[in-house]
Amino acid sequence: MNEQRSSAPIPGYQFASDNTAGICPEALATLVEANVGAAASYGDDQYTALVADRLREIFECECEVFFVFNGTAANSLAISACCQSYHSVICSDVAHLETDECGGPEFFSGGAKVLVSETCQGKLLPESVERLITRRLDIHHPKPRVLSLTQPTEMGTLYSLEELRALADTARRFGMRVHMDGARLANAIAALGRPPAEVTWQAGVDVLCLGGAKMGLPLGEAVVFFDRELASDFEYRCKQAGQLASKMRFLTAPWLGMLKDSAWLRHAAQANRMAQRLSRGLEQMAGVRLLYPTEVNAVFALLPPECHRQLAARGWRYYTFIGQGAARFMCSWATTEEEVDALLADVQSSDARLPAVRTSVRSQTD
Ligand SMILES: Cc1ncc(COP(=O)(O)O)c(C=O)c1O
Repeated sequence: MNEQRSSAPIPGYQFASDNTAGICPEALATLVEANVGAAASYGDDQYTALVADRLREIFECECEVFFVFNGTAANSLAISACCQSYHSVICSDVAHLETDECGGPEFFSGGAKVLVSETCQGKLLPESVERLITRRLDIHHPKPRVLSLTQPTEMGTLYSLEELRALADTARRFGMRVHMDGARLANAIAALGRPPAEVTWQAGVDVLCLGGAKMGLPLGEAVVFFDRELASDFEYRCKQAGQLASKMRFLTAPWLGMLKDSAWLRHAAQANRMAQRLSRGLEQMAGVRLLYPTEVNAVFALLPPECHRQLAARGWRYYTFIGQGAARFMCSWATTEEEVDALLADVQSSDARLPAVRTSVRSQTD
């Protein structure tokens, strides 16, 4: 085994998640700007109002906007705003809402049941969703109320606009609402190159959880209600759940810098480009197999076990518990070409190789 370093040492956590990156300069600048003098608390400050207005401009919609500390709270509270305790929420079998929120959506909705539908490359299919809805429509089963979509998916794949509309139409036909987990929506918008309105409410989304932390804010997500009726009393839900920040300006001011001059989309495009670079590099290696098409900022790759050991020894950090034991390399706004190339060099220099013949993911999806 080649134990020689092929690249300079790099501190850990580079590819574990996009939330391991620091605060992007634009967000940091407005955070510092907000740290002057006193300001009204609990969201009555000028920064919070400005950011909400800015989001209304960006989404071209008179939506209701709220800010919470994290994605679990955003999803759980958004779902609770749509559901009664006897309702069900349909999502993918890999949805963060199902696998990683500790039952938050069920808890905050007072018992709504999460039902999982099968997926193809992380994406829900209208026919499977319809089968799940119509499997039981009697009084003894929870009433389907919300279809929850993650855009981009947990597998780093993207719903096209047509796919989004088809899913939303299916939900509508059964009187259901559409929730979008947009923890990485910036990456999706940058990749699709379509206006934010088209990718959300114009495609049928009623409530969006818009990720902030992963795109380069210090923390925080926005809950955006395109259907304003669903937002009724939402501020009480936030308060009761411990999600109403007293010093709200520090949660919201970073959004101002991030949203100005499309910095959020520039950073997202950079993360997507780095994922493409990594994906192209890995694809060339005989022992490596990509699991999903690289459509945003995540790359899922099956690597030889020995390769994992060597990469860990060299300080590389990434997750292996998502997506069939594959390595998930997540790029962020801060990921550089040098980091990607150093990782590729270290994968290349590990002697181990998968015995299987290399398969191109792109050809699998044709
Ligand atoms: C798809 C998705 N939704 C939501 C979240 C937000 O989770 P958190 O509560 O950790 O902010 C994440 C974070 O990993 C995610 O990947």
